[in-house]
Amino acid sequence: MLKKISYISCFMHPQGGEVFLFTLRNAKGMEVEISNYGAIIRAIRFPATGNKSIDLVLGLDTMEDYLSPDYLKAYPYLGAAVGRYGNRIGRGRFHLEGKDYQLASNNGPDHLHGGITGFDKKVWTLKDMGEDPHPWLVLSYLSPDGEENYPGNLHTDIRFELNEENELRYSFNAVTDKTTIVNLTHHSYFNFRDGKGSIRDYNLQIDADAILEQDDNFVTTGKLIPVAGTAHDFRQIRRIDADWNEETGFDQSFVRRSKGLSQPAAVAECADTGIRMELFTSEPVVHFYTARWLGPLKGKKGTIYGPYSGFCLETQVHPNAINIPSFPNTILQPGEKYSTQTVYRFSAI
Ligand code: BGC
Repeated sequence: MLKKISYISCFMHPQGGEVFLFTLRNAKGMEVEISNYGAIIRAIRFPATGNKSIDLVLGLDTMEDYLSPDYLKAYPYLGAAVGRYGNRIGRGRFHLEGKDYQLASNNGPDHLHGGITGFDKKVWTLKDMGEDPHPWLVLSYLSPDGEENYPGNLHTDIRFELNEENELRYSFNAVTDKTTIVNLTHHSYFNFRDGKGSIRDYNLQIDADAILEQDDNFVTTGKLIPVAGTAHDFRQIRRIDADWNEETGFDQSFVRRSKGLSQPAAVAECADTGIRMELFTSEPVVHFYTARWLGPLKGKKGTIYGPYSGFCLETQVHPNAINIPSFPNTILQPGEKYSTQTVYRFSAI
C-alpha cells in the first residue's frame, strides 16, 4: 500500500537548504508532486478515462532542471508560488505610510511577480505534513524586511492538500511586523493532454462580467471593461480561441461576479481527454494567461513547450492594486492575518 504522502531529497540548493519533492496521493489514483523549491507543483497526475494517468500541468523532469541556465533564461514561473506581489506593479513604484518604495523593474519598466528573486526561487521550509484525513503539507518562507525592497519581515505559509474529491487545495497565510503589501498567487500552467499540443480548443468559462484595462505594458489602469460582446466574454462556456487574437492569446485579469469559494470562478474542459477542472477561490480576480511568452522550452519527457502549450488561472487581488485606490486592499498591517484559498477540482466530463 503506497503511503498518502512520501518524499525524496533532490539536492542541496547552492544558496542553502535541501530541496525535496513530495508526492501526495489519494485513493482515487490521483497524485500531486510538490517541491519546497518555489513551492512548485511539478506534476498533477489524474486517472482519466480507461485509467490512463494524464499529467495535467507543465513542468520539468527533475527539480535540478528548475535551476538550469536554459530554464532561468526562459523563466516562465512554471508551477511556482508567486510573491510578494502577483503580476505587475506599474513602474515598480508604490507609496506606503508616507514613504516611496522603488521595486525592481524586471519586466520592461515594471515590476513583475515579486521581482528578481521572488518566492518562486526560494527554498521554503517544510513546517509540517500529515495524512489525516487527507495528505497535506505546509511550507513556509520568511521574506526578510527589505527583500526585493518590500518593507517588513513577511512570514508566509502555503498549505497544500489533496482530498478524495480529486481536489487539490492550497491556502496562503501571511503575517508581517511592519506595514507592507501582499498579493500572492500560484502559477500552474494547465494542459490536459499530458503537456502536448495547444490549449486553444479547450472550453472555458470564467464567471466575470468585466476585465481590468491594461496599458501597453500590461499594467492595470484602474478602469474596468465590461466583457459583454467582446473577445473576453467567457460567461458561457466556449472555446478558448473562439474570438481570440491569434498573436497574443489572453493575458488579462478577470473580475469575478461571485464572491468566495462556493461557486466556481472558472471551469476548463478538454473534450478529447474528457478532463474538467473547476476553480474555486476566495480571491476577487482570476488572471487568465495563455502562455504567449512561453518557450521554446524543453519540458517533461522531452516535450517542447511553446505559446499556448498551457493556460494559467492565477487567483489574486487586482494587479497593481496598491497604486489604484478603487481596487481592493493589498496592504497588510502588523497584527493582521493575510489568508487566501484556492481549489482545483478535477473530474471526468
Ligand atoms: C503574466 C504574463 C507573464 C507571465 C510570466 C503571467 O502571470 O500575466 O504577462 O509573461 O506571467 O510567466
